[in-house]
Amino acid sequence: MSWEGELTTVPLPDFPAGFRWGVSTSAYQIEGATGVDGRGPSIWDTFAREPGRIVDGSTGDEACDHRHRYAEDIALTAGLGVSAYRFSIAWPRVQPGGAGPANAAGLDFYDRLVDGLLAAGVDPVATLFHWDLPQPLEDAGGWLNRDTAARFAEYADLTAARLGDRVKLWITLNEPFIHMTLGYGIGTHAPGRMLLFDSFPVAHHQLLGHGLAVAALRARSTSEVAIANNYSPVRQVGDTDADRVAARAYDALHNRLFTDPLLGRGYPDAPGFDPAVVRDGDLDVIAAPIDVLGVNYYNPTGIRAPEEGSPLPFEMVPLDGYPRTAFDWPVAPDGLRELLGQLHDRYRDALPPIQVTESGCAYDDVPDADGRVHDPERIAYLDGHVRAVHEAIGAGVPVTGYFVWSLLDNWEWAEGFTKRFGLVHVDYPTQRRTPKSSYTWFRDLIRR
Ligand code: BGC
Repeated sequence: MSWEGELTTVPLPDFPAGFRWGVSTSAYQIEGATGVDGRGPSIWDTFAREPGRIVDGSTGDEACDHRHRYAEDIALTAGLGVSAYRFSIAWPRVQPGGAGPANAAGLDFYDRLVDGLLAAGVDPVATLFHWDLPQPLEDAGGWLNRDTAARFAEYADLTAARLGDRVKLWITLNEPFIHMTLGYGIGTHAPGRMLLFDSFPVAHHQLLGHGLAVAALRARSTSEVAIANNYSPVRQVGDTDADRVAARAYDALHNRLFTDPLLGRGYPDAPGFDPAVVRDGDLDVIAAPIDVLGVNYYNPTGIRAPEEGSPLPFEMVPLDGYPRTAFDWPVAPDGLRELLGQLHDRYRDALPPIQVTESGCAYDDVPDADGRVHDPERIAYLDGHVRAVHEAIGAGVPVTGYFVWSLLDNWEWAEGFTKRFGLVHVDYPTQRRTPKSSYTWFRDLIRR
């Protein structure tokens, strides 16, 4: 069965040899089995249990039961023909209390996963922190506490000591900007704090943790090291000076706060920036060279000047004129091309090769009478974004990989099970996996 050519008549262009095609997942969103292997609680176990936090009242206790079904998921990954699989390691499996020696049973699982991937011809790409902080560290202040950065480096060291000979690319943090803003700024994600711009220490301590972890990884592993940042090109709505100031402020916060210091530029003048938490030497630690910049892209953001009296220096406005996903996010592949060009223009020689570490969309995919899941919107979405990457490469931007978010439908944080991002449909009551038509499309693209 092939869906090739069903939507687009223009053939997809060729990509450079060695271009890394992959799929991404994260631990808490797919693993389930939160009570096995001596795993400790994470902030998401706690948060999901608080009434009203998750739209469907679910938790990640079972998720996709990947901890038990990983062999089937490796086979699905290998069946795509991708060269890489990006997963995350659950810190609470490795250090159940957030500190101290490694829990061997927790690492055993990732050991099997990594070996299974390699045996299937797929490069393991491991993210160390995809938001599931051990609860005891949150009890001590979470990322507001500078000590969490040191704890993170210790966890990186323990993990690399076990897996450093086989993981092909390390990603320290996933989207520190989203973790700071949703988790500590407005409280819609764990740990559910509402500090608005007082959450800047969370930015700095995550970046410091990243820098310390880079050093720990380098000491144990010769593999490449990266960070995965979320980016959103800003579309200024309105044409007043105040609109321009607002657009610049949002751009500094979303697109520069976590990249300027990484690439040796120090902190930009971003809302909330507080030099008091930055100690001598920190910026050098943060600017430790990385081999790859991971770029997670979903959509651009419309920004205009705020109303009088607003607590924010900008106002977000929905962007008209785009198709929309089930999350109501605009489908804007041109935003990805623009963003890649912007990173290139902004950082020039300081910019390492980019890999798009997440790109994808949620739709309400339902199996048809024959049990097949046809998702033409996702094919169109991916087709547009893959072309955008190709155009960016043609314009001289060093992009060396593209990972689809996600391999599987999974537990989408505060949205619970209500948003499906997978190339593979998951029927949660039975855990039955059904590749969607986008899976076949992506497989055919890679084969070509
Ligand atoms: C996160 C994923 C999430 C995806 C879709 C990214 O911000 O890294 O964990 O599922 O967006 O919301």
